[in-house]
Amino acid sequence: MIKIAPSLLAADFTKLGSEVESLNTTQANMLHLDIMDGIFVPNISFGYDIVKQIRPISSLIFDVHLMISNASKYIDKFADAGANSITVHYEAVDDVEAIINYIHSKGLRAAVSVKPATPIESIAQYLPLMDMLLIMSVEPGFGGQKYIASSTEKIQCARRIISEKGLKTSIQVDGGVNASNVAEVYKAGADIAVAGTAVFGKADRNAAVNDLMERTL
Ligand code: DX5
Ligand code: ZN
Repeated sequence: MIKIAPSLLAADFTKLGSEVESLNTTQANMLHLDIMDGIFVPNISFGYDIVKQIRPISSLIFDVHLMISNASKYIDKFADAGANSITVHYEAVDDVEAIINYIHSKGLRAAVSVKPATPIESIAQYLPLMDMLLIMSVEPGFGGQKYIASSTEKIQCARRIISEKGLKTSIQVDGGVNASNVAEVYKAGADIAVAGTAVFGKADRNAAVNDLMERTL
């Protein structure tokens, strides 16, 4: 069964506390936190102070997705704020290996993300170093976009390489995942699906998470 990482970006920020708490009683595996700087992506979301404030009211793993241009400068801040896993973008870092090592030195899981146009081959050499590969299935920057169909082949390609190398690296897919395509994403080889609109867009969070998971049984 696939694991679900609801993305807080799709929550109602006028009631942030209860939105975060609404996931505590669900089967969600982690809380996906989209950090955007208006430079790497054309949108600005929220920062480490928000992450720090919501940390005590959530029982989930904090999965921080950094869509920022100067990631290495902010690893300490997100580690201190309570992140359990930090994802950086391949396209935004100079030294992939160094930043993975740095994230690990803080005791956190390290992940690397690729945008839709970045081939899996470009990060293949780093797969043994990372805990998770994040495949973007929309252009990063906004929630509520349509899943890019060619992402399915990228997931299959990543799964093939990970299997061939005998690695434990998990595959997370982010963008436009919903009830109609979650089974396809899972069959292609994804372990974790990020779901913003598909979870926070539904009044019953428990049912929304269960529905996505059950479609991959
Ligand atoms: C996009 C973000 C995604 C987004 C997912 O830049 O990285 O995590 O919030 O939202 P949905 O599931 O609505 O596409
Ligand atoms: Zn994300």
